[in-house]
Amino acid sequence: MPVSLVILAAGQGTRMNSDLPKVLHKVAGAPMLHHAMQAGASLSPGQVVVVAGHGAEAVSKAAMAYDEDCTVVVQEAQLGTAHAVAQAAPVLSDARGDCVVLYGDTPFIRPETLEAMLDARARHAVVVLGFEARDPGRYGRLVTQGEALERIVEFKDATHEEREITLCNSGVICADTQTLFSLVAEVGNDNASGEYYLTDIVELARKRGLSAGVVTCPESETMGVNTRAQLAEAEAAFQARARAEALENGVTLTAPETVFFALDTHIGRDAIIGPNVYFGPGVTIESGAEIKAFCHLEGCHVSRGADVGPFARLRPGAELAEHVHVGNFVEIKNAILDEGVKVGHLTYLGDADIGEGTNIGAGTITCNYDGVNKHRTTIGKRVFIGSDTMLVAPVKVGDDAMTGSGSVITEDVPDEAVALGRARQVVKPGLAPKLFDLYKSIKAKRQKGA
Ligand code: UD1
Ligand code: MG
Repeated sequence: MPVSLVILAAGQGTRMNSDLPKVLHKVAGAPMLHHAMQAGASLSPGQVVVVAGHGAEAVSKAAMAYDEDCTVVVQEAQLGTAHAVAQAAPVLSDARGDCVVLYGDTPFIRPETLEAMLDARARHAVVVLGFEARDPGRYGRLVTQGEALERIVEFKDATHEEREITLCNSGVICADTQTLFSLVAEVGNDNASGEYYLTDIVELARKRGLSAGVVTCPESETMGVNTRAQLAEAEAAFQARARAEALENGVTLTAPETVFFALDTHIGRDAIIGPNVYFGPGVTIESGAEIKAFCHLEGCHVSRGADVGPFARLRPGAELAEHVHVGNFVEIKNAILDEGVKVGHLTYLGDADIGEGTNIGAGTITCNYDGVNKHRTTIGKRVFIGSDTMLVAPVKVGDDAMTGSGSVITEDVPDEAVALGRARQVVKPGLAPKLFDLYKSIKAKRQKGA
């Protein structure tokens, strides 16, 4: 029976002090909402419901961008976590099987933890994810009796003794979908905040003779983000974990603490990543590729045996085939470089196709933009593009062709042709010493006058 997922993401996040809804703030290049959706996706859910409220339109767009099959419901007023879950009831009225409730601002719950909760459903009608808090602060406290969970008490409503409890509520809850909604429907708001607390379903379940239990996870997983400082902490925590995972997966990181990963970065075994490399969203690096120091990559693919940098920038749509060499101060965007292409230095390749074995000389630029539209440059196989060639797109250079250094190429170049698009050189014998004398006399006059 497929699991249903409800992700709560309606809160404003006042303490972020931001125009952006909290769940859209990014950790590792991806909105926190995507982290939560990714954790949930590991359960292969039948249905995913995102509860939006503040900034609903933007939240909905982000949710759809991650999973176009998800359903977004809008909670008009934020009356509490139980009220938020209740908004998902109409969408899941036919859903059988279990429902897992996640928070959009809690990005680090691991798939294994969610699996453990589903396993615990064999023993309990309601399963709550708890953690031992170093500083329990204002978290809800889990009141337990042996293995059983008696109730959850919110900090505001807790007695002095209850506040001494260090086992806290992460917010993640799992129950049979229809049981969950029938319990949520019974929740009232007679408490210190006047809110409908999802946490009340534990006591309501027990009144029905149903049992509740706790699964625990390390506190690092339940880390929620409420402030910019916590967002920075979450980023640091993500990066620490991603670096450790990369090392474990057989990736060499020369200076791990200086490499930054995105949520979806994939790096193959035996790849080598130098110091100060930044991976934005959508990067895959195949086994054995090397990314040298100070590179910035996003939305690109680097194949086996290719090497990039130092100081290179690969932007979305950069596709490097096997054994491509990209050197320093090269920027590549929306361009396909076939096997063995070499782009050594100081070059911009945008909206281009480069055939196998082609060499791009230093200072080459694809002039892809005419101020209004973008145009493509197509270069064939085994071409030699001379240094400082301007390729004014749209333009094609055929196989086995050459361009002379400093050329401005505005017309197509046939296979095997040499194209020269520059002024012819003029040589004036004996003129240089005369010019030097002239310039010196001008300088001397200026200094006397001053
Ligand atoms: C909640 C729990 C608390 C737990 C803590 C963990 C309740 C009553 N309390 O408290 O036991 O220790 O989380 O972080 O559940 N949301 C909505 N609509 C609402 C209210 C909240 O979508 O009307 C969403 C928020 O956007 C957020 C999540 O639910 O993602 C939790 O809400 P929040 O207000 O942060 O709850 P806490 O007071 O932190
Ligand atoms: Mg909170």
